[in-house]
Amino acid sequence: MATIFTASDENISLLSRKLLNGEIVAVPTETVYGLAANAYDDAACARVFRAKARPAFDPLIVHLPLGFDLSEIAELTPEAVHLTDTFWPGPLTLVLKKKPIIPDIVTAGLDSVAVRMPRHPVFQRLLAACQKPLAAPSANPFGYVSPTSAQHVQESLGAQIPYILDGGPSEIGLESTILDLRTPGPPTLLRPGALTVEEISKVVSVQIPTKTPANQPHGEVMPGQLSKHYSPHSNCSLVDRISLDVTGKSPQTAFLFFAKPISPQSLPTNVFWLSESGNDVEAAHRLFHLLHVIDERGFASFVSEKVPEHGLGRAINDRLRRAAAVKSLDVST
Ligand code: TXA
Ligand code: MG
Repeated sequence: MATIFTASDENISLLSRKLLNGEIVAVPTETVYGLAANAYDDAACARVFRAKARPAFDPLIVHLPLGFDLSEIAELTPEAVHLTDTFWPGPLTLVLKKKPIIPDIVTAGLDSVAVRMPRHPVFQRLLAACQKPLAAPSANPFGYVSPTSAQHVQESLGAQIPYILDGGPSEIGLESTILDLRTPGPPTLLRPGALTVEEISKVVSVQIPTKTPANQPHGEVMPGQLSKHYSPHSNCSLVDRISLDVTGKSPQTAFLFFAKPISPQSLPTNVFWLSESGNDVEAAHRLFHLLHVIDERGFASFVSEKVPEHGLGRAINDRLRRAAAVKSLDVST
């Protein structure tokens, strides 16, 4: 099992030394927990891939300390400057042309790098102590649901990693939004996430691909767009609406509502809801937590409702669609 560290100054300093010595550390962020390594250290990044059983073709996001000069590692564009001025530190990841200082292992050999400056104060203290960019994917076994607490990391990866820095439950609970800025023209949404398209559109226009990752035919997969992902162990199906009547007839199946169902009787124990009142921020915050709970309770399958496709609803539906994707990719290569 991994050792869980509180965020004392002493522990932050100890863990920064471990990182600079090539070790890997699970870290809190405002979105989900990440598994961090010094982004300039090939061998340390290789450890991250091994611990997660992550295929080498799936690149890592590079996380930056406050004040870091992005032009050291990536080619800036006017949109990148505008977006980072507005939304950093925060849950926005930009894909930009990379500079040679970033090792190929981080970017899976691509000529682009995904970068973000997180706003979690504990992670920022660690980044400040390292004064190096840290490459970090979400701290879960490849393909599984992202962790939103130190305990989630311990349960799913504790046997593979030495250290977890505990920064409390993740404030947002959904991964960052990823925008591709490599080509001229408006940035393209690669992954809907914690920063809504509505917010971003106030600053720059965003191109939303019509072919969403979850409906891409098998074999047409780009990095960052795997259809089967974010998956709990139990089988997921996604429907427009769940009727409360069906929940009593299938006690072996968990039912995940968007808003708490109204019922004169007490609700069956296989009924879960993302939000008391149908609020997208609360729903995002509880989504991965509930997927973990449904797995822990041993339900073989669960049925989830789609949530309204605006605000954080876009990202929630994306994760549910991917959890429900029937075909798993062959990642053995
Ligand atoms: O909120 C987050 O983004 C969290 C926290 C830890 O920062 N990180 C996270 O990382 O979700 P990960 O590795 O689980 O997801 C990052 C996604 C992957 O699907 C990866 O393929 C994609 O970003 N990605 C990374 N670099 C890329 C690149 N150069 N081009 C396209 N996609 C990229
Ligand atoms: Mg992930």
